[in-house]
Amino acid sequence: MTASDWNASLYDRKLSFVSGYGAGLLELLRPRAGETILDVGCGTGDLAARIVEAGAKVVGIDASPAMIASAQAKYPGIDFRVARAEAFALERSVDAVFSNAALHWVLDARGAARCMFGATKPGGRLVAEFGGKGNVASVAEAIEAALAELAGIDGAARRPWYFPSVGEYAALLESEGWEVLFAELYDRPTPIDGPDGLSAWLAVFAEPYFAGLSAEAADHVRAAVVSRLMPRLYDAAAVRWTVDYRRLIVAARKP
Ligand code: BEZ
Repeated sequence: MTASDWNASLYDRKLSFVSGYGAGLLELLRPRAGETILDVGCGTGDLAARIVEAGAKVVGIDASPAMIASAQAKYPGIDFRVARAEAFALERSVDAVFSNAALHWVLDARGAARCMFGATKPGGRLVAEFGGKGNVASVAEAIEAALAELAGIDGAARRPWYFPSVGEYAALLESEGWEVLFAELYDRPTPIDGPDGLSAWLAVFAEPYFAGLSAEAADHVRAAVVSRLMPRLYDAAAVRWTVDYRRLIVAARKP
């Protein structure tokens, strides 16, 4: 599967915490009236709508046609487009690039840094947050162990995410011309409600691991991941999973 096949409705119903956390990132962006802001990996558009509320214009891009269709239906007044972060160009450059919980899906991180730079006016800014080094490590380990055991698959070779360290990502941005102003890696244990919360998470966010498996085999592996992680990550009294998210937050400027 590609990000284009994401289930936009499941994302909104069960996993809306993704845009909830992004609200804090908007404070760092500080959108101003009259600005044009590019939202890279805009998903179903909730944060783009918040930026518009601040008086800025927004162009939202996402690789998933389903996400863009959902965003456009929810916010018909916003300019949403299907485009990949590592392969896009805008007709007019923007004052700022914003990205929440998206850049870890872009394995060509250099291509994304280059395209975002190309889309930004001199003096413009980049504010982004995504998974950093060690993000969801317990889940990745459990998936990869279950794939090896139950399906003889090298899961690490299928890992669909880019989780860089501060040093790695700052160096990459600088080598593409950005001036990095701030970068921080921090733990953000993330609750996912309900006994089936982790299954829903796996179905939406870890799907590329299961490519080529029959539906039955994929269910079997996912069930094994859930049982493997239950003792560590599930709190039965609180009826909640807590996943070991680690975020990388970065602010940069185009000289
Ligand atoms: C994240 O937001 O950190 C994330 C989302 C999906 C898969 C992996 C990480």
